[in-house]
Amino acid sequence: MRKIWICGAKGQIGQAINEIIDKLEFKVLDTDIDDLDITDTDEVLRFGEMNRPDIIINCAGLTNIEECENDISKAYKVNALGARNLSIIARKLEAKLVHISTDDVFDGKSDQPYNEFDETRPQTAYGKSKLAGEQYVKEFTYKHFIIRSTWVYGLGNNFINDLLEKVNKGETLAIASDQFGSPTSAKELARFILHLIDTNEYGTYHATNKGVCSRYEFAHEILKLTGKEAQMKAVPTHLSDFSKVRPAYCVLDNFIMSMTPVYTFPSWKESLKEYFKERGLYNEK
Ligand SMILES: NC(=O)c1ccc[n+]([C@@H]2O[C@H](COP(=O)([O-])OP(=O)(O)OC[C@H]3O[C@@H](n4cnc5c(N)ncnc54)[C@H](OP(=O)(O)O)[C@@H]3O)[C@@H](O)[C@H]2O)c1
Repeated sequence: MRKIWICGAKGQIGQAINEIIDKLEFKVLDTDIDDLDITDTDEVLRFGEMNRPDIIINCAGLTNIEECENDISKAYKVNALGARNLSIIARKLEAKLVHISTDDVFDGKSDQPYNEFDETRPQTAYGKSKLAGEQYVKEFTYKHFIIRSTWVYGLGNNFINDLLEKVNKGETLAIASDQFGSPTSAKELARFILHLIDTNEYGTYHATNKGVCSRYEFAHEILKLTGKEAQMKAVPTHLSDFSKVRPAYCVLDNFIMSMTPVYTFPSWKESLKEYFKERGLYNEK
């Protein structure tokens, strides 16, 4: 039976993988910050040597953008050095490494979707530290899949939960109409990852649900599918309730996926509906 080590197993993507993985096919080793800090090089190497996974999935990260900005060395420690440590052990064990990255490696100033060959130019500490993590992965391993995604939602902290919390309190919403992206289901991403690890199609992938919307349109669809009502106004990013330091244009082109038919993502609206149905929150009128 193949062994998979999931780091950051309690996060949105880590939990989504755990929800759908076939435990008869894989022995799953879950760790998160309380069990094993990926920035502790010796511990990472020891855990790896002891358990000898065939596949390592790095879902761990410092994902709070404000926190990264306020503590730059912590951002690099987790997002870059943590990825380096997992890369070192993956190389040593000849394990496949899946590393999750982000659209924030780009500057967000384009008006065209970024593909895997476009030049990176991160603007934030989060984006810069994530890019440094990617570079370590490329430097230390060759059996790697670097997966960049955006606007991910699942179980945990995300835009949907923040928005519904405000709606349930009866607050008026101010949502950015000048931020664009592709809302991406953590579960769909998990399906893609589990599909990819059975292949030898190594390299960097952009992986998002199909279609593009503004943050405002995303919020509108959330209210529509959950049957909730709220006062909502469209505002520029700097006046919005959420995501004040997000890049304006977070749209990724799943270009490699379109050339090598490894996987096809459904539309963002389809996956969002599935998400609410599974959580018992679907109530479209
Ligand atoms: N969410 C998105 O929109 C999005 C988009 C693109 C890419 N990504 C990337 O995808 C990955 C997973 O995202 P996610 O949304 O699942 O993130 P998440 O929900 O924030 O989960 C990350 C997990 O990693 C843990 N962690 C933090 N520092 C750690 C450390 N030093 N050692 C071990 N575990 C640590 C966190 O614990 P604590 O919660 O206790 O800190 C958390 O459980 C991240 O690398 C992120 O950069 C996310």
